[in-house]
Amino acid sequence: MLLHVLGTAAGGGVPQWNCACPGCSGARAHPTWRRRHASLAVQASDDRWYLINATPDIGDQIEDCPALRPLPVPVPVPVPVRGSVSGPRANSRRTPIAGLILTDAELDHTLGIARLREAGTDGLELLATGSVREALLTGLRLEAVLGPYTPLTWRELSQERSVPLTEDSTVTISAIPVSGKRPRYAVHLPGPEGDTWVVALLLTDRATGAKAVYAPALAAWPDVLQSAVAEADCVIVDGTFWDDEEPRRTGISTRTATGMGHLPIDGPGGTAERLATLRARCLYTHLNNTNPLVDPSAPQYKRLADQGIEVAGDGMVIQL
Ligand code: MLT
Ligand code: MN
Ligand code: ZN
Repeated sequence: MLLHVLGTAAGGGVPQWNCACPGCSGARAHPTWRRRHASLAVQASDDRWYLINATPDIGDQIEDCPALRPLPVPVPVPVPVRGSVSGPRANSRRTPIAGLILTDAELDHTLGIARLREAGTDGLELLATGSVREALLTGLRLEAVLGPYTPLTWRELSQERSVPLTEDSTVTISAIPVSGKRPRYAVHLPGPEGDTWVVALLLTDRATGAKAVYAPALAAWPDVLQSAVAEADCVIVDGTFWDDEEPRRTGISTRTATGMGHLPIDGPGGTAERLATLRARCLYTHLNNTNPLVDPSAPQYKRLADQGIEVAGDGMVIQL
């Protein structure tokens, strides 16, 4: 299984356009601090890839990852056509991107869908839970808005059924429901209750047995998640906030990290103590710009390293 880390920041990115906090200012001064919105590409087969979440940075994320750039145009066989100088036209719009997988309907994970409207008649395939699909259809009116540009095809992402990414892919995917936290725009929408608003993803390569869990938003750590990570080879999880008080201390919210739907990394009940017990390679992603880990020289890196935990970086390639 091959994973490309396309971005590792929480909503807003690092730096965020309207913020001059130490993390954002640091990122303006030191380009190596910069992080794009959290996203991952997973290889389905030779030149077919799925993007996990569609961020506002999706265009740049595709362009910066050679495996995701449009495929070379096959040399057209010249066919003389009477009265015309041109033969068959090559299709130069062949993309290795087979579709999008969504972990939730939050804006930082879905705004990029509209950015791909140039898919045109090829359409876009989206794998999502019913809750996420309904939020996008009724809350963002995604199909009504994008329909005139490109058709959307939906595939159900469920806990019960693990489905191959493409027909010939050895990699299968299933959802691990983690919370009922709705995006703010969907709070009052009708729609299913339950834990399918935010899911973690379980990717399994049937050829090698390798398993990866991707969970960029974790409001809770349910037993189903614990069972999946205990078996996984690689676990990439929500590292939005270092500690529970960070959003209040930095003045970005009146709520704690947990109250904002993100388990903190550090402290009792934090995710680090859970990750430290796993045999998997563990990495944090979806870092908010207030997180001290935005500074690569932060002492918190050593704390994590001592527990065998890494922080994912943009451009990282993970082979399992
Ligand atoms: C989140 O991760 O909690 C959301 O992206 C927050 C938001 O952008 O409103
Ligand atoms: Mn987010
Ligand atoms: Zn900031």
